[in-house]
Amino acid sequence: MISIDTAIARNFVSDEVYNESLEKCEKALVQLKDKSGEGSEWLGWRDLLKSPNDALLEKISSLGRDIRNNGDIFIVCGIGGSYLGAKAVIDALSSHFNKKGPEILFAGHHMGGKYLQELLAYIKTPKQDGSPKSIYVNVISKSGSTLETALSFRMIREVMEELYQDKAAERIICTTSSEGGVLNGLIEEKAYRKFIIPEDVGGRFSVLTPVGLIPIAVAGIDIKTLFYGAVSAFNKYEEDATDMVNYAAVRRALHEKGITIDVFSCFEPELQSFGGWIQQLMGESEGKEGKGIFPTVATFSTDLHSLGQFIQEGTRSLMETFIAVEKPISNLKVNSLEGDHDKLNYLSGKSFHEINTKARIGTTEAHKDGDVPIINLSLSSLNAEVMGELIYFFELLTGIFVYSLGVNPFNQPGVEDYKKAMYRLLGKD
Ligand code: PA5
Repeated sequence: MISIDTAIARNFVSDEVYNESLEKCEKALVQLKDKSGEGSEWLGWRDLLKSPNDALLEKISSLGRDIRNNGDIFIVCGIGGSYLGAKAVIDALSSHFNKKGPEILFAGHHMGGKYLQELLAYIKTPKQDGSPKSIYVNVISKSGSTLETALSFRMIREVMEELYQDKAAERIICTTSSEGGVLNGLIEEKAYRKFIIPEDVGGRFSVLTPVGLIPIAVAGIDIKTLFYGAVSAFNKYEEDATDMVNYAAVRRALHEKGITIDVFSCFEPELQSFGGWIQQLMGESEGKEGKGIFPTVATFSTDLHSLGQFIQEGTRSLMETFIAVEKPISNLKVNSLEGDHDKLNYLSGKSFHEINTKARIGTTEAHKDGDVPIINLSLSSLNAEVMGELIYFFELLTGIFVYSLGVNPFNQPGVEDYKKAMYRLLGKD
């Protein structure tokens, strides 16, 4: 379950501005529901929760089990919406150390030659017992032509063919659009396994399609529970979205008042990658036509030692969204030491969760005094079901907020500009 507390932020806006925003957000929700807004042909992320495809979930779960049983390495090759959602869920729900199942490596998410070179060398190196590593690759690209992904896949493919010759195709899974594009040509030629990204689901809204679900299943996370967590959030907000619309309205009113940066601050480091997903979801959806709040991510208390000073006393154009987990995700407690030489015995017996909670409450007090509008989001616990809820929660918030600005949330015309310039410099036809 996710609870939203907008009380602190609400105090920063007048009733008049809030009420105007509320009206716009209510209309935006209707636009989403009746598909009357701009870009409504991209609302498949809502439709797939209306009628879950259980057969597809089972097929992906079974593929995940298969790769977990047979693989040493699973490479996820994709960028933007084609990897951030999977990484967000995997990092939130996996152990930090002693991971079970295949090692999950990411590729195709930048142009870094050193990283790719090292990755290729690493996958080719035999295991300690001298046997070759068992490698699987999942290339994910809706367009099939994104340069970072396509280039990395070309290099990885060559190694796969060198290692497995005519059996390489059995280890390569492609997630892409139903037809067209270079990747579909390759799939046909090489007989790779293929999963389809629905046409009406854009990259940053695609985590609950095979795009995110395959890597998440390979990581050993129960994708049915994750998916149905999102379904339950969908049903909840179809019935009553009052608190969500209020959240969007407060955020919009703050924007009207001059807020241009939203620092999403997670108090559990496990959620840092989820912040990366939020950044793309909200950034690409709302940053258009000179509008939008720039989403950025911090992990607290880590970043209180880097960004804390600015947040407390710097330019007053930012707000914060705190994301906390209520149920402790560890039971570690502070020990008691004879002599108390480090003067920490006053914390003996307290759990790290308790101390982290005090850090959050203290930070809230301080930043509120520093005139920072704060929205508090609280997750009942950190598990697959809540992660599913959280995914739909932010997708819906984004849809409502961006429509309320009078902007199409589902395109990204600006992303093409760097590509055009880069391709010209690279001499592409
Ligand atoms: O949200 C989006 O649509 C983009 O960020 C894409 O996900 C990203 O550019 C990757 O595109 P593709 O899946 O076509 O390789």
